[in-house]
Amino acid sequence: MSRTPLIAGNWKMHKSGAEAVAEAKKLAELCTDVEGTDIMIAPTNLSLPLVAKAVEDTAVKLGAQNLYFEKQGAFTGEVSGDMLKAAGADYVLIGHSERRQFFGDTDEWVCQKTRAAVESDLIPVVCIGETEKDRDEEKTFFVLDKQVTDGLKGSGLDELKTLVLAYEPVWAIGTGKTASVEQVEEVHRFLRKILEEKFSKDLAERTRILYGGSVNPDNVKDLMSVEDVDGALVGGASLDADKFINIIRYE
Ligand code: PGA
Repeated sequence: MSRTPLIAGNWKMHKSGAEAVAEAKKLAELCTDVEGTDIMIAPTNLSLPLVAKAVEDTAVKLGAQNLYFEKQGAFTGEVSGDMLKAAGADYVLIGHSERRQFFGDTDEWVCQKTRAAVESDLIPVVCIGETEKDRDEEKTFFVLDKQVTDGLKGSGLDELKTLVLAYEPVWAIGTGKTASVEQVEEVHRFLRKILEEKFSKDLAERTRILYGGSVNPDNVKDLMSVEDVDGALVGGASLDADKFINIIRYE
């Protein structure tokens, strides 16, 4: 089964509405002849409807950086999947390490958010990854297994049919340190094996597994050459369309 690569940009808490619109428009123009690669950017929720209008009918699709799993109600500061969908998102990041680290997102929340995303017809991009301490203590595979197992617990095959997993070693995010091709190869192969064991061979083969953590125009080609790498989740280097387009055109 061939998987369409996905290159996704996580803009985190950067750019005003006007800045986001300008950068997204520039990116859409640079992408007009890109074929065979899905492109997504995740601006802040505030910019989402503005950017959606700016990139309408272009190759650039939108994602949100988080959602809450309830549909509506007294949940101050939160936004539901339906609201994000209505604002123009097709994807949503779930369980990004910064959410886990600074806002207390747990695997149980990842699980509920993933189901809520699918219910709102959003493609869930479930982020997992070990810390430096986990790796030093040789717990990488244990941690990843637990994050996948608990984060997807109770979800049915049908619910997970659009699933995207993003392997982002916490020690590589925003640090300029990238995992080596060998490390990425080993982890991605392991993740596909877990998906096969816990769900099905078909699901394992269909799921896109992205790598994230200091991806840039210079290292993307090597990372994308790894058999089980189906795309990249890019933070810092996605903020500048001139740089991001070189990641999108990784060949
Ligand atoms: P980075 O961030 O590319 O700046 O390391 C990646 C991410 O947080 O998704």
